[in-house]
Amino acid sequence: MTTHEKGGAARIPGPATAPDTASPDSAPDVIRVEHIGKRFGAVTALRDINLHVRRGEILGLIGDNGAGKSTLIKTLTGFHRPDEGTLYFEGRETVLRSVVHARSLGVETVFQDLAMINDLPVYLNLFLNRELTYRPLPFLKRSEMRRRAREALDSIGISIPSVDTEVGRLSGGQRQAIAVARSVYSDTTKLLLLDEPLAAMGAKEGGQILRLLSRLKERGDIAIVLIAHNYAQVVDICDRVNLLQHGEITFDRPSKETSVGELLELVHAEYRTG
Ligand SMILES: Nc1ncnc2c1ncn2[C@@H]1O[C@H](COP(=O)(O)OP(=O)(O)OP(=O)(O)O)[C@@H](O)[C@H]1O
Ligand SMILES: [Mg+2]
Repeated sequence: MTTHEKGGAARIPGPATAPDTASPDSAPDVIRVEHIGKRFGAVTALRDINLHVRRGEILGLIGDNGAGKSTLIKTLTGFHRPDEGTLYFEGRETVLRSVVHARSLGVETVFQDLAMINDLPVYLNLFLNRELTYRPLPFLKRSEMRRRAREALDSIGISIPSVDTEVGRLSGGQRQAIAVARSVYSDTTKLLLLDEPLAAMGAKEGGQILRLLSRLKERGDIAIVLIAHNYAQVVDICDRVNLLQHGEITFDRPSKETSVGELLELVHAEYRTG
């Protein structure tokens, strides 16, 4: 192989190549954490967190601002080291040393604060840290990256005028779409973590991302954690919902056994009782 293609081919989710008939209820956990805690100085952001996600499952993570959702995602992706607790990746006890380490295991993340380089064009942001080069020469395969970037965005149905546009010139929703495209782009992904990927998106683009997640789920080989504030979307697309309150998971239930009304009631009850 003459090219450096660590990121894998531009495979956008289509029908599963090897259909996994196991239901998510019986599939193995891709990630499981036990008794995870995380403090920032005097602030306890996470306490005694037990969470797991199975292959082919979408877990919805909900909770108020400051509840600890992003901190939890950042712990699952190796950005934060937990102060206590254990993480198992594919059944094996694992210490995630960095985001790059987690990515090498197949963990892809769309961060709430998107981590894009504003003065690079769209296509280079899509290939950030996994640029295609002519090996052993360090030259970038620009036209191939452009073509694949175009292909990836088209097949998701996201309209960006040109893949040569600098990301800093795009709207917030378009930037989010690129972040999502980047994370679903690799065919080595086993765990996809999405921290409010729909927050800045219009209804049409948000719908496209939700359909994309459904297609990924149908593939059956990826576990997904989705943070969203729209409970209707969460109940609709997720298999299971976890509610995070003040750094603790207080509710874990299959979506089909809960409702938007119940989730709102749980969140608001806290304020009524004080
Ligand atoms: N790097 C940090 N340093 C200090 N405190 C932090 C840091 N990151 C998060 N926190 C604190 O941890 C708590 C949880 O924050 P986190 O960002 O995880 O909340 P969240 O549930 O994602 O909220 P939102 O819905 O607003 O995104 C908050 O009190 C926050 O101020
Ligand atoms: Mg957050």
